[in-house]
Amino acid sequence: MRTSNGVYGADLRYRGHRVRSGKYAIPGLPAVYEDEEKLQAERKRYQQGVIVENDGSSKADEDLERAEDAAGMACMTAQGAYTVEVVLSDPAAGVEVLLKYGVLPELDVITRSATVKNIQNKTIFISKLFSGTLDFLNGNYDLLHFHGRHTMERNLERVPVMHGKQSFGSRRGTSSHQHNPFVILAERGTTEDHGGCYGMSFLYSGNFSFEVEQDQYRQVRMQIGMLDEMMDYPLEPEECLYAPEVAYVYTAEGLSALSHIYHKLIREHVCRGYYKKARRPMLINNWEATYFHFTGEKILGIAAQAAKLGVEMLVLDDGWFGKRDDDNSGLGDWFVNEKKLGGTITELAKKIHGLGMKFGLWIEPEMVNEDSSLYREHPDWAFVIPGRKPCRCRNQLVLEFLRKEVVDHVFSQIADVIDSAEIDYIKMDMNRSLSDIFTVTEGYQNYGKIMHEYVLGVYDFLERLGGRYPHILIEGCSGGGGRFDLGMLYYTPQIWCSDDTDAIERIRIQHGTSFGYPVSAVGSHVSAVPNHQTGRITKLQTRSVVAMAGSFGYELDLNLLTDEEKEEVKQQIQDYKKYWNLIHNGTYYRLHDPEKDTDTAAWCFVSEDKTEALLNVVSLDAHGNAPISYVRCDAGLYEMC
Ligand code: DGJ
Repeated sequence: MRTSNGVYGADLRYRGHRVRSGKYAIPGLPAVYEDEEKLQAERKRYQQGVIVENDGSSKADEDLERAEDAAGMACMTAQGAYTVEVVLSDPAAGVEVLLKYGVLPELDVITRSATVKNIQNKTIFISKLFSGTLDFLNGNYDLLHFHGRHTMERNLERVPVMHGKQSFGSRRGTSSHQHNPFVILAERGTTEDHGGCYGMSFLYSGNFSFEVEQDQYRQVRMQIGMLDEMMDYPLEPEECLYAPEVAYVYTAEGLSALSHIYHKLIREHVCRGYYKKARRPMLINNWEATYFHFTGEKILGIAAQAAKLGVEMLVLDDGWFGKRDDDNSGLGDWFVNEKKLGGTITELAKKIHGLGMKFGLWIEPEMVNEDSSLYREHPDWAFVIPGRKPCRCRNQLVLEFLRKEVVDHVFSQIADVIDSAEIDYIKMDMNRSLSDIFTVTEGYQNYGKIMHEYVLGVYDFLERLGGRYPHILIEGCSGGGGRFDLGMLYYTPQIWCSDDTDAIERIRIQHGTSFGYPVSAVGSHVSAVPNHQTGRITKLQTRSVVAMAGSFGYELDLNLLTDEEKEEVKQQIQDYKKYWNLIHNGTYYRLHDPEKDTDTAAWCFVSEDKTEALLNVVSLDAHGNAPISYVRCDAGLYEMC
């Protein structure tokens, strides 16, 4: 941090600590919770001012409850979650920090967040506020992280931790396709089945930074938090800045065990709402079937065929609103293009429901095209640096979602559409990185604050959407998996995993994703062959087995299948109904390593009571006189014997 007279750094000293029962919440930000009812109560207590943070500096040390107090000890020994708060301050710098640790003893998870408060009468500037820090006494570690690109997200890379700093992150405004805010530090030699490993998963969907460093004494430190580059976050007197939360997991039992803890944590203590437990409707999405070129009649034709085969929901993707027949125009105009649909959305939704299906809609609320009524009315609502030509990625600009009036406007337009028809699902997309960061409301390029408040605006939008329409299933998306993180999963229990629907490439993407995220979070569809991204032809059965390792759906025109293929689809739908609980709530085991096993991929699901298992095996390559591939079934399956 920096004070207004230019002094850098804070000498934070311990002032006290307290332990209270229940897991803390964070105003405006996602956080792990113990159960949803307690979460609501905790949030209410913040709103009513019952929980006041950072009151430590004004109190004498003895006023703070101490962990060794009976009440504190009782929280730690009783069942259920509790919060440990440590108050630190530097009166000379005028700053107070409240470190918050959330403990979920049953799952063996610890979370951490911090609140920074300006306790002097001038502005201070926060230059770095990381959420997670772990220190280790020696240097024998490997770093496992998940890098990628659009249509090839979350590739596992395992590298030794070296002397000096290794770092990555995102400055794209989203957590990004390129690096995921989930990392593992593993003792050298750790495998799927044994060895010590530490995970950090950041509940944040914007710019972030990860660092691991081995120092002169071979001690290792790993950290994750909001991007510190150009952060310089101004904090006014009495103002607080909340660090997004990180979830820590440690296990001595290898990478699978680490993944299993995260899977359970996310399924039960991050995702919220009806669909966190309920089976998600099997859907058909029209994107790869039609792209922008559809009519209401065409959509109904796709839906009718899908309904006959047992598909449960039609999702109308991009192109139903404004003037949007390609990606040059229309974003920002959230009113129905009735000419294109040949009627109102109310009528279309009714007809789809008449087929016995649910009905879902695609939105991209954070974006605007210059060729739109919204932009013509409010050109100052999009990020543009005065005097410069903005970068137009996919021909669109980004709306200043940090401004309440912008979120209000977009939300009310979209709510009008939802209110006008029976909508059961929303796919919330986001298709470009943020650039040209400047807003008239700040008056200067207040980069760190704008980027953070943008994310808070997105969360506000999602909170309003989920709050007003609790029955709607919301699926996250950012050009596929460009915002695949625990922050989003707090609002959307599933995320479209990748724009790559090729079954063979998807296996690698879903394998990497599985280290930090449960199968229930992974949106995955059967698409047409030759595949639109790779040109590869794979069997329908292969495509369905891969898509079933996720929230299952179709993304093609099923009318174009042969009768035999249609029968196969019917069977797939029955299979998914039969196995979804095992797939979504069972324990997931990786049985291959994409770096070594290039011919065969395999994974399996084992029920919690270990009475049932489902093994999936996929041939990745074809050879003349192929050598025999053996799948190693010891992990997971042997436990059933
Ligand atoms: C990117 C998404 O990932 C696709 O599934 C599709 O919804 C397009 N956007 C639509 O523009």
